[in-house]
Amino acid sequence: MLARATSVSKSYGAGALSTRVLFDVSLALPAGELTLLMGPSGSGKTTLLSILAGLLRPSSGDVELCGEPISGATAEAVTRTRRANLGFVFQTYNLFPALTALDNVAEILAMKGVPLGEARSRARTALTRVGLGERLHHVPAKLSGGEKQRVAIARAFTGEPALILGDEPTAALDGTSAASVMQLLRDHVGPGRSVLLVTHDHRLERFADRVIELADGRIQRDTYRDPQRNTGELVA
Ligand SMILES: Nc1ncnc2c1ncn2[C@@H]1O[C@H](COP(=O)(O)OP(=O)(O)OP(=O)(O)O)[C@@H](O)[C@H]1O
Ligand SMILES: [Mg+2]
Repeated sequence: MLARATSVSKSYGAGALSTRVLFDVSLALPAGELTLLMGPSGSGKTTLLSILAGLLRPSSGDVELCGEPISGATAEAVTRTRRANLGFVFQTYNLFPALTALDNVAEILAMKGVPLGEARSRARTALTRVGLGERLHHVPAKLSGGEKQRVAIARAFTGEPALILGDEPTAALDGTSAASVMQLLRDHVGPGRSVLLVTHDHRLERFADRVIELADGRIQRDTYRDPQRNTGELVA
């Protein structure tokens, strides 16, 4: 399993002001699948994604990322596991404002230990693949929303991580760019590699193997698009 959550619950705040947003969520992501996580606004999708990425601690329950338990691990160990295995596309992009598109991508590879020259050449290739070959030297403030989103996507897949997690990674894209980005993410999936995307966009379902629906902090449905793969049991 590339990621596994077991009986994960999450509350924000403390005491009387505490609100519970995830209730006993269990979920496993095997290799070789593109999964969509769907559900209404406020249902807990970003919270669950952040917990799977080790960016947020669950209030209770266990999380494992690529075989490493991350719920009880130190912050340093979680960061190491995340850097080695994960590409993350944030809902708000999280680009470095002072760096060009090229360096935003190259910097992530450099953090993984790739020499700078090679990092920049791989970054150029990744940005060209998302259609930003002409925007390499622009800083984020000089890019449109959709262009920033594509930099974030190039950054997530360029390190060839085992698992890509994306929070609405096509929300700022027109239909054509969304389809081409989805094809790139689809191509990323293979032996040892999976993708999990939060989305509201039902048009993305044709690229997916599996759709998980979250409502009020609980998994309501977890189905494969290939009906033969639905055994009636949740993969957990
Ligand atoms: N840091 C926080 N502190 C307190 N409450 C929070 C915090 N983050 C999220 N929440 C609340 O938790 C619930 C779930 O939020 P979350 O961001 O996971 O929803 P979501 O499904 O990603 O929604 P959207 O589709 O709008 O992005 C919401 O009611 C939200 O107000
Ligand atoms: Mg969200």
